[in-house]
Formats: sequence, C-alpha cells, structure tokens
Amino acid sequence: MRTQVGIVGAGPAGLVLSHLLAERGIDSVVVETRGRQEIEQTMRAGVLEQGTVELLTAMGVGERALTEGARHEGIELRFGGQGHRIDFAKLADRAVWLYPQHEVLKDLIAARLATGADIRFDVTDVSLRDVTSDEPVIAFTEADGTRVELRCDVIAGCDGSGGVSRHTIPDDQRTDYFRVYPFGWFGILAEAPRSSDELVYAHSERGFALISTRTPQVQRMYFQCDPRERAEDWSDDRIWAELNARVAGDGFTLAEGRIFDRGVIPMRSYVCEPMRHGRLFLAGDAAHTVPPTGAKGLNLAVADVVVLARALESFFATGSTDLLDAYGPTASRRVWRAQHFSWWMTSMLHTDPAGSAFDLKRQLGELELLTSTTAAATHLAEAYTGWPIEL
Ligand code: DHB
Repeated sequence: MRTQVGIVGAGPAGLVLSHLLAERGIDSVVVETRGRQEIEQTMRAGVLEQGTVELLTAMGVGERALTEGARHEGIELRFGGQGHRIDFAKLADRAVWLYPQHEVLKDLIAARLATGADIRFDVTDVSLRDVTSDEPVIAFTEADGTRVELRCDVIAGCDGSGGVSRHTIPDDQRTDYFRVYPFGWFGILAEAPRSSDELVYAHSERGFALISTRTPQVQRMYFQCDPRERAEDWSDDRIWAELNARVAGDGFTLAEGRIFDRGVIPMRSYVCEPMRHGRLFLAGDAAHTVPPTGAKGLNLAVADVVVLARALESFFATGSTDLLDAYGPTASRRVWRAQHFSWWMTSMLHTDPAGSAFDLKRQLGELELLTSTTAAATHLAEAYTGWPIEL
C-alpha cells in the first residue's frame, strides 16, 4: 500500500493535518491504535483559541463548535478572596470557545470519512521504518489481523506522548527538555449547574483550583494536589470542602452535585527537539506536552500542523525541501512561547510545596499587577486567546 503522507494518530494533530492535506490535493492515510468509539467518547477539555475555531470553520468543520460551543470573552482570576475579571474582548479583541476536544474529533472524523478518507482505527503493532530514506514505511496490523506495510513519501508522527513516533528518533539525535511539577490536579466531573459564567482560576494558600464546565448540566473542576494522591481516598464531602476553601470569598458559592468521575492528573512540560528526523515530522503531543493550566495543548497541535501542511504543499508542488527544513524551527517558536505561558500560569497560581511565605507574597504581587495594569492584563489576554496561528 502507498500514500503520500502516512499519519500516525487520529487525534487533533493527525486529523486536522489530513484535512489540510486533502484541501491541497495531497493523499494521506491515518493509522490509529484506538477505536473510533473510544476517541469520540473520552471526555476531554476543550478551550479553543479563536484562531483554532477560525481554522475549523474555514475547513468546514466549525459549525457545531460555533453553535454548540460557548464563546467566552474573559476569565476570572481569584486571589485573596476576591474575583478579578480579565476581559479578552476589550484587551485583545479576541475570545475563546469552550467546546470539548472529543466533539472536535467527532466533527473531524465525520467530515473526513464523508469524503472517503482512509482512517484505520484499532490497529496494533505500529512501527516506523526507513524514516531517513525517500520511502519511509509505517508497518501495522489491521483489526482483522492483516499485516500492512504503508509506504509513504513522508510520515507525520501525531501519536501523542505515548506513541512510537518520538522514539523513532535515535536517542543520540534527540534532546528531551523535561520538567515535572511537584503537584498534580485532582479533577472531577459533577452533575451540577454552572457556578460562574466564565472559567475561574483561583490562587489560594491551600493551592490552585479551577472551575470549568462541560455542559449546562455537567461541570469540570480541579484542585491542586500531591501528584501521588489517590482519587479513591477522597470522600465527596472532602472534595467539596477543599474546592470551596480555595474559591471562598466575596460571596462566591460553588454549585455542588453528584460527582461521577474523579482522577489525578500529573503536570509536566516536555519538548522534543528536533521535531524532525529524515522524512518523519512530529506534531502535537508527540513533540511536546504542556501542563494543563491555560489549556494550550490542542491549540498548539493545530498550529503545528498548519505549518506542516504548508511545508508539505510546497514539497509536493515543487520538490523543494526548504519549508520542510524550516518546519521544526518555525513550529518551535510557538511551542516555546506556549511552554512559557503554560509554565507561567502554573507557577503563578500553584503553591510550591517547597516554597516559602515570600513565594506566596510574590505570587500575589504578580496577580495584583496582572489585574490592575492594562499592559500585564493584555499580555495574558493575547496569550490565552492565542497568538496569530502562523507564528
Ligand atoms: C479546562 C482545562 C484547563 O487546563 C484549562 O486551563 C481550562 C479548562 C477544562 O478541563 O475544562
């Protein structure tokens, strides 16, 4: 079997890439180890930058994000028992959309399959071969047991942090930039009405908390915890008490309800460089991970493949590898900006277990600056809603 671009992974990076390539008349096959149902039903976060929504709309798959998603023109930062609004519309003339990642994936998969695209779900034993040759190969086993060798001109490794693509770059030719944070997020889903119209990012002496939402009936909330915490050790009462203690003040009340999902999420930052090895190009979580504060992961994946699609278009049209050679350095500028933003939001809002009273006061100083000067607030508004996507 042969295709122009073999795409490993049907997440946001892989699926958006296959759309962008199809628009340019470039053939691709997407290979995915998970089943379609699993991808479409795993409830994931979704804060879509304005540029991401504009891109989905231009690709003809933004309709549900615009109509069923919620446009948010600001967030609330809470500290010292008080809420402070950051007004994205006023400061940056931009907004974000809350629309869960698995819904984005449903829309992308449906649209690709409607045009007869080749997406192989439920494959096993994926490996990449000959990636430094002109004809790299993705080898895999189909759900029915057939062994397939997919010969490609180029492979896009979009298989996330646990995929095979990253590890296909030899250790001695790859630099892993890695940071583990000394805390995690305790996340819950609860059947409850919304507590606030906008997302609430709370700093407190007990640690960070985030009040987010999935639907009018289902709310998503997180609080900073020890990364070794076991979610099952916590009673519902204890969870609500902890969340309430972190967001308390100026009359704010948390709407409570039945907790039907809970788990502890680790926090890490990671970048793999280079993002390319021969004819293998990494995109999205295969190349980088950001801590979740500020929700940059999906948006960064989309931005990567915008750059990659343009480079592949030029390569197939002219045979020139100039833009392919520039892919890593170009994508990496945004990657490191997003790494900085995610690290900054995380460090400003979380309590460092090894930190001191000085650190706490310094964080409050920064939050006070951020909520009282236009320059600092504009920086946050621009970063949160997303820099121009070609950056
Ligand atoms: C959500 C997650 C985030 O990391 C964030 O910054 C905002 C919202 C969420 O799960 O809804």
